[in-house]
Amino acid sequence: MPLILGIESSCDETAAAVLRNGFLLANVVAGQEVHKQWGGVIPELASRAHQQQVVPVVHEALRQAGVQPHELDGIAYTQGPGLLGALLVGGSFAKAFSLALNKPLLAVNHMQGHILAHFVRDNDQRPVPEFPFLCLTVSGGHTQLVRVDDARTFVLIGETIDDAAGEAFDKCAKILGLPYPGGPLIDKYAATGNPNAFAFPEGQVPGLNFSFSGLKTAVLYFVRDHTAANPDFVQNHLHDICASIQHTIVSTLIKRLKRAVKETGITRVALAGGVSANSGLRQALTQTGQTEGWQTFIPPFAYCTDNAAMIAMAGHFQLLAGETAAQDTPPLPRFSL
Ligand code: KG4
Ligand code: ZN
Repeated sequence: MPLILGIESSCDETAAAVLRNGFLLANVVAGQEVHKQWGGVIPELASRAHQQQVVPVVHEALRQAGVQPHELDGIAYTQGPGLLGALLVGGSFAKAFSLALNKPLLAVNHMQGHILAHFVRDNDQRPVPEFPFLCLTVSGGHTQLVRVDDARTFVLIGETIDDAAGEAFDKCAKILGLPYPGGPLIDKYAATGNPNAFAFPEGQVPGLNFSFSGLKTAVLYFVRDHTAANPDFVQNHLHDICASIQHTIVSTLIKRLKRAVKETGITRVALAGGVSANSGLRQALTQTGQTEGWQTFIPPFAYCTDNAAMIAMAGHFQLLAGETAAQDTPPLPRFSL
């Protein structure tokens, strides 16, 4: 019954969680307000905020879990991908804690963590995907289609060739004058907009890869042209514009998923990453699953955006596999899957 502490610090969330044998005992996430005014994450400010938050966040997770540090069986942390300085803070803390307690250190790939969030057990009794399954991981920095053969075997079968899906949401939102991160706001306004009001182009790339950089350019020209004729255009049509942008991104993602299912013959399909919180995407996957006869897995909101429960879960599997990390394990800002 491994008792694992997970620590996540790859971007702008300082998080700590405790799992006992995959069951969630505590999941603490502290955001960073400092970035709001800048319209994006400022790496150096993120590192400093992690430094301020990591000790209280870990302390709070252990307190909520009712666990003493010496009871832990492993300390899992995010090795990458992410911001170098941010990774260094969580990693240094995890190493020091592991050294002081003489407990195994577990260096986790953040993207594997997003996928393995599906295995975190709590009181909601949701089904766990059987292997192999397909996972569409959509976050602020990545868009990946992955064949998951077991908890330690991940095969990348498609990815974005430019912007990530979350990045596309955030960049379009910025063009519309919305604050960072704009993804959740587009989702909110889209709920009461017409998804077919405006037609934006879908990225056309062959195979199972994605392209989203054309969308922001299309939205930029669209907004510029309409605003020239009517300065209030965006304000007057915000909900329809958001719904149309969301519709375009979701449609691109679902098309690739259909192709991936056809090519692999695997009909268990999971979502992961921050953009899996998007209500349009969640709805579209559920509907597509029903019409296509897929079994679909959509994580609860708490495990979609960055959290440490997913890092502790990955650490759990790594401990079982004997994959412990040395003290000199480097942070890997561009860690591939
Ligand atoms: O996985 P995540 O928390 O951090 C990364 O590892 O990147 O993903 C953050 C991304 C951001 O781009 C954010 O705008 C997007 O997820 N996001 C959403 C929604 N919630 C978060 N995008 C669209 N709709 C949402 N509801
Ligand atoms: Zn993430």
